[in-house]
Amino acid sequence: MRLAVLGAGALGSALGQRLVYRGWDVCWGVRPGDEGRHSHLAAGLVYAVSEAVARAQVIVLALPAKAVPVVIGDGRAFASRVVLDFTTPATSDLSCTSPPAEGSVAEYIAARCPTALVAKVFTSMGAEVIADSNLDVRPQMFVAADRRATYEVAERLVEALGFEAVRAGRLRQARLLEAMGLLWLRLATVERRGRRIGLRVVSY
Ligand SMILES: NC(=O)c1ccc[n+]([C@@H]2O[C@H](COP(=O)([O-])OP(=O)(O)OC[C@H]3O[C@@H](n4cnc5c(N)ncnc54)[C@H](OP(=O)(O)O)[C@@H]3O)[C@@H](O)[C@H]2O)c1
Repeated sequence: MRLAVLGAGALGSALGQRLVYRGWDVCWGVRPGDEGRHSHLAAGLVYAVSEAVARAQVIVLALPAKAVPVVIGDGRAFASRVVLDFTTPATSDLSCTSPPAEGSVAEYIAARCPTALVAKVFTSMGAEVIADSNLDVRPQMFVAADRRATYEVAERLVEALGFEAVRAGRLRQARLLEAMGLLWLRLATVERRGRRIGLRVVSY
């Protein structure tokens, strides 16, 4: 099962490299013409977005939320793919979420790609922590999806990263996970708690 990570920034690099280390078949999708700009990633595994999507069964979206409509287009290239959306739509001042009319970025993707299996994944931590293999606490990632098959792929990925998957309900709950993404970002930056914080479910 080949996985394409769209976006080779902080999150896309950390996620993809960790999965490569765990033996997954990963490639990256970047802007056309930018393939040579990402020498920190495994050589020969960086393609233009359309080529990476064509080569993979599972697509990870590690892009700015505003780039999603550009990359998804009419959705046809994503037919029958599993699409795992890690984006956080937020206003530039981080005062609130800025979701599309569908309610969340993940629901926007599902509306454009009706045959795709779409999940929202909230990382609950920053890319720096994802890249770190020496953690005292096993981090959690939250997943929302409509179909069991989608959950199974998302949970395999989260567990391959060494993290615990937490089910958050149906894809409609993606809007809650996107709001949690903004909460994390505000705590880390505006409230100055630093980027090594995480959010998790605890029992008392
Ligand atoms: N970083 C984190 O800790 C973290 C954690 C959880 C969730 N997220 C979410 O993950 C997403 C990515 O965050 P990030 O921190 O990795 O951002 P980033 O470092 O800015 O990386 C974004 C990447 O997307 C690429 N990109 C933008 N528009 C594109 C397009 N139209 N086609 C192809 N590639 C495009 C950028 O390429 P260029 O450099 O050429 O613009 C860049 O490589 C965001 O939605 C963010 O909210 C991030």
